[in-house]
Amino acid sequence: MIIETLSADVKSVVDRWKDRRGNLITILHDIQDRYGYVPREAALEVSRQMDAPLARIYEVLTFYNYFKLQPPGKFNISVCLGTACYLKGAPALIDEIRGILHVEEGQTTKDGFFHLQIVRCLGCCGLAPVITVGDKVYSAVKRSDVMDIIAEYSKDSVKNG
Ligand code: FES
Repeated sequence: MIIETLSADVKSVVDRWKDRRGNLITILHDIQDRYGYVPREAALEVSRQMDAPLARIYEVLTFYNYFKLQPPGKFNISVCLGTACYLKGAPALIDEIRGILHVEEGQTTKDGFFHLQIVRCLGCCGLAPVITVGDKVYSAVKRSDVMDIIAEYSKDSVKNG
């Protein structure tokens, strides 16, 4: 990422919203829309341009689950940890994914293919435990299914670059 471009991008967003109430959230929102996450360089730039402490920016970024601090993966894996999914074994699915991909919640694998996120109820509790990969929903997932699901997308990544 070219820093001058980023700086100009952040400036255009800050200029657009600087006179509005609650503008910090809106600004960070716009930045995430643009990059798919909020890069640290962008957070530093917002801090500089708004003359706001970086700690305040990160307070907002970490308070709202919506904000991502890492680039999204090619495939976003969401594991539901709502009550129904939790009771039907979702924690074991998370352990399995962590073990296979070596990522924690909110992280993207080093090759950029997979991003792991934990969500609270995907609205299909009758299918618990549920995970999604991109738009595809996997229901009644067992720990032993996880490797096959990931392998499906790993093949795609290799095929499509
Ligand atoms: S608790 Fe998982 S879909 Fe509702």
